[in-house]
Amino acid sequence: MAKSLKQLIAKLIPAEYWNQKYRIDEWLYTKVENRFVKELCAELTPGTAIDLAGGEGRNSMWLAKRGWTVENVDFSAVALKKFRRWVREESVHEPALAGRCLTTKADARGFKSKLAPADLGVIAYLQIDQYELAAAIGGLVGKLKPGATLVGVWHSLDNLAGGFGGPRDPNVLPSVDRIRAILSGLNVDIELLENREGQIQTKEGLKPSITLVLQARVRD
Ligand SMILES: C[S@@+](CC[C@H](N)C(=O)[O-])C[C@H]1O[C@@H](n2cnc3c(N)ncnc32)[C@H](O)[C@@H]1O
Repeated sequence: MAKSLKQLIAKLIPAEYWNQKYRIDEWLYTKVENRFVKELCAELTPGTAIDLAGGEGRNSMWLAKRGWTVENVDFSAVALKKFRRWVREESVHEPALAGRCLTTKADARGFKSKLAPADLGVIAYLQIDQYELAAAIGGLVGKLKPGATLVGVWHSLDNLAGGFGGPRDPNVLPSVDRIRAILSGLNVDIELLENREGQIQTKEGLKPSITLVLQARVRD
């Protein structure tokens, strides 16, 4: 297919934009779990988890290896295929993993879950328009059990002014206030919602980066 046609399709169809990004041999976001997901989920008792917009599955795999049964929900067929391939490879050493890793190809703004109601919902770097993000978070919370944990990680809006990495479009960068407003209409209590200052590797070396992290609990 001509490059310009591919670019046009990617512009018109968001899932195809992501499919094109994922059509590489390497793992776009590495196979290493996100450090904030790790921090916020490490102490939780394994159960069932929905990894919304889980991509190639670095966080799903980490959770599954800790005993969670995980559903990686993403609208990129290419990313989910890579995740399933990775699961098959890892299952050679750890056969139980295959049964603990599920995939669902769906739009985050309205999806059906195989595991609902789940014990944990993870949403990491789903950088979409704020109204759409509200729909995605609301849908995810609706698929969690009373007492379940919701964990979110995003490039923060504050990263535009003071940080590097992530999208430069303010519409897809949530802030503490935006996430608080989204959650105010939902049946959850916020346990942690803050910007974290860190560093990312760029061509010019390490640069500051601001990440927004969330931990909330579904009310009983
Ligand atoms: C930056 S990647 C993050 C992937 C993964 N959460 C991680 O941390 O490695 C964003 C992911 O969101 C997915 N995505 C974006 N918009 C989506 C939507 N509306 N519905 C489902 N998935 C979506 C993309 O396919 C991509 O896998």
